[in-house]
Amino acid sequence: MAVSRETDVKEVFMARRIVLTSGKGGVGKTTVCAGLGIALAKRGARVLLVDADMGLNNLDVALGMEGRVVYDMTDVLRGRCSLRQAILQDTEYSTLSLLASAHGSDDSEFPSAAFRRMLAEAESAFDFVLVDCPAGIDNGFHRAVCVADEAIVVTTPHVSAIRDADKVLSLLETYNLHSVSVVVNRVRGDLVAGGSMMSAEDISRLLRHRALGYIPEDDCVTVYAQLGRLGKGNARSDMAMTYIAENIIYGTRKVFDCTEGYKGLFGKIKTYLRRQI
Ligand SMILES: Nc1ncnc2c1ncn2[C@@H]1O[C@H](COP(=O)(O)OP(=O)(O)O)[C@@H](O)[C@H]1O
Ligand SMILES: [Mg+2]
Repeated sequence: MAVSRETDVKEVFMARRIVLTSGKGGVGKTTVCAGLGIALAKRGARVLLVDADMGLNNLDVALGMEGRVVYDMTDVLRGRCSLRQAILQDTEYSTLSLLASAHGSDDSEFPSAAFRRMLAEAESAFDFVLVDCPAGIDNGFHRAVCVADEAIVVTTPHVSAIRDADKVLSLLETYNLHSVSVVVNRVRGDLVAGGSMMSAEDISRLLRHRALGYIPEDDCVTVYAQLGRLGKGNARSDMAMTYIAENIIYGTRKVFDCTEGYKGLFGKIKTYLRRQI
């Protein structure tokens, strides 16, 4: 009998804890975390998204949940509510949940050990715990990486981001993680096809780590993120996130071709026209 994908997910995995990190800020960690959470939940996985970016949190915004957050993890750690009360369920995907962090809270309030204990308590109810790491490589980075078994390093095709990703990848070797992979975000297919941007494949080779996926530069991300509708449309970036989610669940290696549509005669015309805008 054919096993449904939903059953498949639940039977094979129990709470895989994955941290999304980068070193550099603004490369798309939060966006990828939200998009991946949605893509995994769409396949029936029970997903907890954890905003470990204390003080500059915006995972709730990317998910369109900011108006519904009553309690956050500060409240749990201070004993003002239970963990269960702080975990917020998405209205569209019932298997997607968020544990929000507090705006402007003091980073020192969150010792790594307390953070780890809190997530350990939540873990049994989920198939995936995705941790959105803050930028930098200080305490916040350590706290987020400590709770994970797997890491995804997000970078963009820009030199400064690649350099930071390389540093973070070296640092991750000092942690006891059983998988570290790379996602290249904001790839401009027209520039890659025209030879003026490094391809996502070249970047992952340069970083000497498995490429989990490539995500194109996509205006829909900005628009949908503002509307809290990430992953709910039919954008190219949604397709790229879907491939990444399937690679995570099934161990496949399907990656989105960001240069598709920019090859051949019509592709060259499109590239030319894009440059005129
Ligand atoms: N693939 C993409 N295409 C276009 N814009 C993107 C893409 N990924 C992220 N962004 C935008 O980049 C900005 C920074 O993303 P964010 O996820 O907040 O980065 P980080 O969490 O690493 O600081 C946001 O405005 C987001 O909408
Ligand atoms: Mg962020």
